[in-house]
Amino acid sequence: MSAVNVAAAAEKRWAWIVGAIIAAIIAMMVFTGIHWSSMPPSRVETIDPRTLHLSGEFAEGNLGTAVGADGKVMVRLIAQQYSFEPQCVVVPAGMPVTFRGTATDVIHGFVVGRTNANVMLIPGYVATFTTTFRRAGEHLMPCHEYCGTGHEAMWARVQVIPPADFLARARSGERVSCVPR
Ligand code: CUA
Repeated sequence: MSAVNVAAAAEKRWAWIVGAIIAAIIAMMVFTGIHWSSMPPSRVETIDPRTLHLSGEFAEGNLGTAVGADGKVMVRLIAQQYSFEPQCVVVPAGMPVTFRGTATDVIHGFVVGRTNANVMLIPGYVATFTTTFRRAGEHLMPCHEYCGTGHEAMWARVQVIPPADFLARARSGERVSCVPR
């Protein structure tokens, strides 16, 4: 075989190998996306990070878990260097829970244990998603976007409790919380 033919054969072989690698990566992305129910980015909703703590839905008194007049469970939270507010979130098992969150300073994010609750929190934007926690239990909720020197110490807890217990606690009209007082 001439040198030209050897080079052509090698290039053809590597074209097939690279093609197979790309196909395997795409297949892996499709599989994990469907298997773990990865959620698409939420719709674009903006908020002014300079004033969100003063009034409106992300003022301190509105953060945490609440049951709306329509019976829907809503968690509102904010992320800042280097903590989440609130530090501990209570949610019911087996009921849809809607999260609404944003960041006050830089990009943060969180994932709740090994569930599919996983989102980025970007200053100026409200991130929202709805998920259902199947079983009662406690999860760690770490920040998963590098946000500065305190990033690895930035995390909160999520307590998933039986729905009857949750609704009994929510009926008092207060926000349901597990933050120690
Ligand atoms: Cu907040 Cu990393």
